[in-house]
Amino acid sequence: MVRRPFIAGNWKMNTTRSEAVQLVRAVREAVAGVEGVDMAVCPPSVYLDAVGAELKDSAIALGAQNMYHQAKGAFTGELSAAMLLDVGCQYVILGHSERRHILGESNEDVCRKVHAALAAGLTPIVCVGETKDERDAKKTTDIVAEQFFGSLAGVSSDQAARVVIAYEPVWAIGTGVVATVDEAGEVHASLRGMMAGRYGAAIADQIRIQYGGSVTDENAADLLSVSDIDGALVGGASLKAGSFPKIIRAAVS
Ligand code: PGA
Repeated sequence: MVRRPFIAGNWKMNTTRSEAVQLVRAVREAVAGVEGVDMAVCPPSVYLDAVGAELKDSAIALGAQNMYHQAKGAFTGELSAAMLLDVGCQYVILGHSERRHILGESNEDVCRKVHAALAAGLTPIVCVGETKDERDAKKTTDIVAEQFFGSLAGVSSDQAARVVIAYEPVWAIGTGVVATVDEAGEVHASLRGMMAGRYGAAIADQIRIQYGGSVTDENAADLLSVSDIDGALVGGASLKAGSFPKIIRAAVS
């Protein structure tokens, strides 16, 4: 089966309200008429509403950068899946390496969020990836497996088909050091194997695996030409109205 490519922009904690609105307008205009690729932008949560309003009737979907697993209650500062749906989100990034490594999220935390997102009807983009030390110690496959199986524990085959996985080597995020096509391709292929072992080949064939980590409009085409790389989760370059649309176009050319 041919998986539909999916390019998502993770704006992290980087825009003001007016920058967010300007950026989404420019991206929307630049990708008008582009077909054959799913697209999303993930602005800071306080601007989801404003950015969502700019995306009315566009092919670009809205995503959040995080959520909490509980539905409601005394969880100061947190946001529920229902709240994200309420402002128009279709996607939510979960277990991003910055949340795992800076904010201390465990695989169990991520797993609870994955279940809550799926139950609510959001599509989780679940991030996995090794640090430089882990890669140097030849632990990449072990770490990625631990994060993949840990974050998706208890997720059924039907649900798994709706999940997006993002392989984001920590050493490549925001560093300008992109994984080579071979390095990324190898991990994507081993993730596909893990999916097949757990869910069967037919489901594994449907799950999209994005690559993330220093993706630019210059390296996107090469990465996206790899058969197991089904899209990109883009940080820095997604903040550039001149670059992000080119990455989207690279997915369909
Ligand atoms: P980057 O970030 O493209 O700036 O490396 C990717 C990410 O963290 O999702």
